[in-house]
Amino acid sequence: MCGIVAYYGPNQAYDFLIKGLQRLEYRGYDSAGVALLNGDLRVYKNAGKVSELEAIADNQNVTGTRGIGHTRWATHGEPNSINAHPHLSQSGDIALIHNGIIENYDTLKKVLISRGHEFKSDTDTEVLTHLIEEIKEEEQVDLLEAVRLALNEVIGAYAIVILSKNDPNTLIAARKGSPLVVGISENEGEFFLASDATPIVEYTKKVTYLDDNEIVSIHDGEMTLKTIDNVIKSPFIQELEISLDALEKGGYEHFMLKEIFEQPKSIYDSMRGRFDPVNLTFAMRSLVEYSGKIRNLDRIIIIACGTSWHAGLVGEYLIEEFGRIPVEVEYASEFRYRNPIITEDDLVIAISQSGETADTLAALEMAKEKGATIYGICNVVGSSIPRITHAGAYTHAGPEIGVASTKAFTAQVTVLTLLALGIADIRGKISKKRLREMFAELDTIPHKVELLLESCNEKCKEIAAIYQDAPNCLYLGRGYNFPVALEGALKLKEISYIHAEGYPAAEMKHGPIALIDEEMPVIVIAPKRNYYEKLLSNVQEVKARKGKIIAIVTEGDEKVKEIADHYIEIPDTEDCLTPILATIPLQLLSYYIAVNRGCNVDQPRNLAKSVTVE
Ligand code: M6R
Repeated sequence: MCGIVAYYGPNQAYDFLIKGLQRLEYRGYDSAGVALLNGDLRVYKNAGKVSELEAIADNQNVTGTRGIGHTRWATHGEPNSINAHPHLSQSGDIALIHNGIIENYDTLKKVLISRGHEFKSDTDTEVLTHLIEEIKEEEQVDLLEAVRLALNEVIGAYAIVILSKNDPNTLIAARKGSPLVVGISENEGEFFLASDATPIVEYTKKVTYLDDNEIVSIHDGEMTLKTIDNVIKSPFIQELEISLDALEKGGYEHFMLKEIFEQPKSIYDSMRGRFDPVNLTFAMRSLVEYSGKIRNLDRIIIIACGTSWHAGLVGEYLIEEFGRIPVEVEYASEFRYRNPIITEDDLVIAISQSGETADTLAALEMAKEKGATIYGICNVVGSSIPRITHAGAYTHAGPEIGVASTKAFTAQVTVLTLLALGIADIRGKISKKRLREMFAELDTIPHKVELLLESCNEKCKEIAAIYQDAPNCLYLGRGYNFPVALEGALKLKEISYIHAEGYPAAEMKHGPIALIDEEMPVIVIAPKRNYYEKLLSNVQEVKARKGKIIAIVTEGDEKVKEIADHYIEIPDTEDCLTPILATIPLQLLSYYIAVNRGCNVDQPRNLAKSVTVE
């Protein structure tokens, strides 16, 4: 969490910093701040959003050709202006921004206090500014060396950028566990730094992603890279592929709505060029390279968090159905701490939109250490997970900016479908006839999503208006649509703050049925595929207790429609592809309910898009 930006160059830094922070606001919006260097070092910071910072800073002196900026998701210390970044050193000469957590900050702070340091904030970050300054003075070293030595004393995760009043031609940044990208301008001596590439792409396409334990120093317009062990490295410079349009709302009221409506394209992009429906072959490099491994696999473990974990559950059903390999799906945060059994024969798949989720990353590192082959399904190109995996497949959904994950989920499920079919093909578990049918159906999905968005949008709005004040909501599904029920419930609670639970429909009678009365909306995902008759009985059970039924049904369904209070039709498709379609009206329902309740849909309270703390 937290977004950081920095500018070093011949131009004024402020506009880039503010615009960049707005792009990174999805990472946290508890407070925002900037520091500008122009002879003196000035800091403007405030609790709340970047727009509130702008309102304060715009009337001040915001000149300076060196600058750093931060948007915060609070970990240590409440979200007020004192705890907002940048933080200053004891003398006020060094300013620092930080994304991550300094785990041993308390010990370091006590030592520094015993040496006369006085702290203003409750943050772990402020400790770092004091430590760097103390080392610089005590050891009589330059800023870069002071930062390097300080980082050798630090335990934890960080992406940091440092400005010093006494070193106006220097900017230092470092990374361990939290992302940092450096953009290299066409203009000599101009550099842009940020937590991800979105603030940078408007200015340059040439970037280098820092690796863990690397420090970058920009001094007198030249960039050098070294490790915290003092080993000089050459930066690996690559071209960004993000388009600027993808970062704008493009006429939609919210990013979330835009991203929901982008799904015909994002789903298409996630499968584009990856299979040949005529020759029945796959063009996924990871499948080709690891075919030997896949042939001999005994088990697959999928690790993820949140929505990506729900996609993982769909993946489990897909891989077990087609590939006939046992799959375990684990919450990354649980998996990494429970001493799981992992062997060299395992394939561990991490699913993550951001590619930065701290628990997923750490769980994956642990699996790698134990000898497993690790595979990533991520959306953000160049993010941490794809950089540590042996193999993987990007989802190619394009930037997802709304905190609630929408198009990333459907792209993840699409990639998992291809992976399951690929595994099945390699292991000889699927006939050519079935593969042909699946490819043919997959080909139709983007268009079906397009039709569905057109047909269900108004209906979702109407239903949302009826249930916007419900205090609770239940989501039920079976088989492939049980994870969809979980995802629907998560989407509703995270953006509308309505309490919602997802359940396997048959589990209802083991407890949740007690909640059902005439006030309770129950959303049932009931496509006319596997378990249809069973689901029908579950719908009857809700009806008998006067619950309000909102059913997601297959076009042409008669039976569920008759019982339900409201229904939304989805096009018919293969059972295993129904999650992609059924999820879409649930996203829209949550969206419209949240909008009607006046919630901040793109930046729900307490959340951040990229969870880079454990
Ligand atoms: O970037 P990741 O996919 O690893 O993120 C995992 C979760 O934090 C994320 O899916 C979260 O649950 C979303 N807010 C859900 O909409």
